[in-house]
Amino acid sequence: PIPVIIDCDTGVDDALALLFAVRHPALDLRAVTCAAGNTDVDGVVRNTLTVLEQAGAPPVPVARGAERPLVEPARAPRHVHGEDGMGDLGLPAPARTPADVDAVTLLRREILASPRPVTLIPTAPPTNIALLLRTHPEVVRNIERIVFMGGAVATGNATPVAEFNVWHDPEAAAIMLTAGVPITMYGLDVFQRVVVPGTDVRRLRASGDPAVRLAGELLAHRPSAPESDGDDPAGGLGDAGAVCAVADPAGISTRLLPVEVNLAPGPGRGQTIVDRRARPGGSGIHAGEREQALVDVALDVDVQRFAKLYLTTVEGIPGP
Ligand code: BDR
Ligand code: CA
Repeated sequence: PIPVIIDCDTGVDDALALLFAVRHPALDLRAVTCAAGNTDVDGVVRNTLTVLEQAGAPPVPVARGAERPLVEPARAPRHVHGEDGMGDLGLPAPARTPADVDAVTLLRREILASPRPVTLIPTAPPTNIALLLRTHPEVVRNIERIVFMGGAVATGNATPVAEFNVWHDPEAAAIMLTAGVPITMYGLDVFQRVVVPGTDVRRLRASGDPAVRLAGELLAHRPSAPESDGDDPAGGLGDAGAVCAVADPAGISTRLLPVEVNLAPGPGRGQTIVDRRARPGGSGIHAGEREQALVDVALDVDVQRFAKLYLTTVEGIPGP
């Protein structure tokens, strides 16, 4: 199996991502690290432990990380993920407890201890990842790739141009992109497209398996109106799509493109500026002194394929 570490801000769709990672036979979830984002970091730790417990996951270590972005204060989107960051679904408090080390220490330890290079999957503002890469650059040699949910080629969500995870900590995103690790950007352009049909969401919610039922409740909390199936709106996979892209990379089409994070104050802050010109840098003005990252940007996704992959994995039905 592929050794993976998820760095999350659970988060309704981060929870969907965790459920998938725990159940996919080709993924070996070595650790989970938590950062402030969808809610405060203590809430993220609590939500993460609850989800792993409900999923019946093996005792994977969970560590508390950054309380706030590198430069700015934390700004949780309570209108999207509720007061508790988990859609206010009334989930029980976890019996599990966090690791006795912080996120950066756990990341370093698990990456260096892994017999095979680790794939990092940040589905949160990448504060922990930036701190890790700056504090312990030796980890780079045992990171296979970073597949992160964040950024957007086209439209943003936190602002007209910026996606939430990158907008919440643009400096961290810039550090991550320029660290010299192969990177896949699973941005809003694909993130927003992957939905599970309403009839499937209804079936999950009625399951006798608590983990499957939880996936159904979480999907029902992420309704996608245009895809409604009568009374049962389709549910967006969100962050779980980035984990699908690790398990099944053929489900996305990517292009290696220069990406730069806009760090300037003002309305453009947090935008991922993706250079889609035919000859980037070959005409026009060069980036000059600024560091330019080359990133595999996901431009298209096979929606049915990922929806089916998610369902067969979480429900435990053998795939094709
Ligand atoms: C991202 O922001 C968060 O609210 C979601 O969990 C996802 O990671 C989407 O912009
Ligand atoms: Ca997230």
